[in-house]
Amino acid sequence: MAAVLRVDLPDTAYEIAIAPQNLDTIGTQMAGLNLGKKVLLISNPEIEQFYGDRVRDALSTAGFNVATHLIPAGEEYKTLASIEQVYDAALAHRLERSSTMVALGGGVIGDMTGFAAATWLRGINFVQAPTSLLAMVDASVGGKTGVNHPQGKNLIGAFYQPKLVLIDPTVLATLPPREFRAGMAEVIKYGVIWDADLFAQLEAAEGLSSYETIDSQLLETILVRSCQAKAAVVSQDEKEAGLRAILNYGHTLGHAVESLTQYRLVNHGEAVAIGMVAAGQLAAQLDLWTTAEAERQDKLITQTGLPTQIPGQLAVAEIVDTLQTDKKVKAGKVQFILPTTLGQVKITDQVPAEVLAGVIQNCQVC
Ligand code: GLY
Repeated sequence: MAAVLRVDLPDTAYEIAIAPQNLDTIGTQMAGLNLGKKVLLISNPEIEQFYGDRVRDALSTAGFNVATHLIPAGEEYKTLASIEQVYDAALAHRLERSSTMVALGGGVIGDMTGFAAATWLRGINFVQAPTSLLAMVDASVGGKTGVNHPQGKNLIGAFYQPKLVLIDPTVLATLPPREFRAGMAEVIKYGVIWDADLFAQLEAAEGLSSYETIDSQLLETILVRSCQAKAAVVSQDEKEAGLRAILNYGHTLGHAVESLTQYRLVNHGEAVAIGMVAAGQLAAQLDLWTTAEAERQDKLITQTGLPTQIPGQLAVAEIVDTLQTDKKVKAGKVQFILPTTLGQVKITDQVPAEVLAGVIQNCQVC
């Protein structure tokens, strides 16, 4: 099965191409897009070992002149210092305004490549070839690019859209199962916030916890429907003036848990899973959502092998304090995305402090 989706934005439009073995046709797919002749392929050493030759061959065969720049794997390299090295590589390869950077990797590589492309020569082309499930269903679509500041994640960045997102599900064979599950957290998120039918398909499925066990047709459905949801939201609100904030479902509490545990205890997807459980309980306590649907969400999260509990060593007060520093705080008020029914959410800052504290406490033993 192959699918091509379109992201339509006020100033640009691009396709998300989803098909097994897509990496082998990246050159021909890019050739029709007027992306210049020079390509800087940006990846990390592990991913490059697996897929670098295939991508370079496909690009060279299609007539591109390719150089490669590697950034060590890990969030700690998502810095301005790494971007400076990308600029050095761009200079060495004499990239021009018409040239293209290709991101081959997970969310960190995609975000950094996009930011380097947004800023080099005031903006050159870039293409996303995501290799993690999380990057395929979330980070590679929608144009959020950037790096971390020592004081916080993704504080430096730009909205800058790729010219193409090329997804090859077969590369998930080399993704560690824990990272696969992390991506599934974002997939479950789309089911809750946007696509009740996707949620029902996930509920009915088995083997969601790894690439080895998931049905390949279901995986492609998951990729298509998640990208459709993301494209629909971003098309309506590219710069997060309103609707796009719903994509942060589970992220408010999730970010607090991630940062308070120094990004070492839980990965991003696991933090989102924990945040969705807490948000579900908040919504149920505020009579916005039925307890029955909140429990269906939690069951699916557990079934996927994702955690549901806020780590017990964190004090309720420090979690509440950390929420206040979230990027999404507006006029001093923490914004929560809370489900109202499967497939729909509302954005609210009307969460009484005692209800929030009670839910956090409850989620440390749930
Ligand atoms: N990852 C959330 C967004 O792209 O808005």
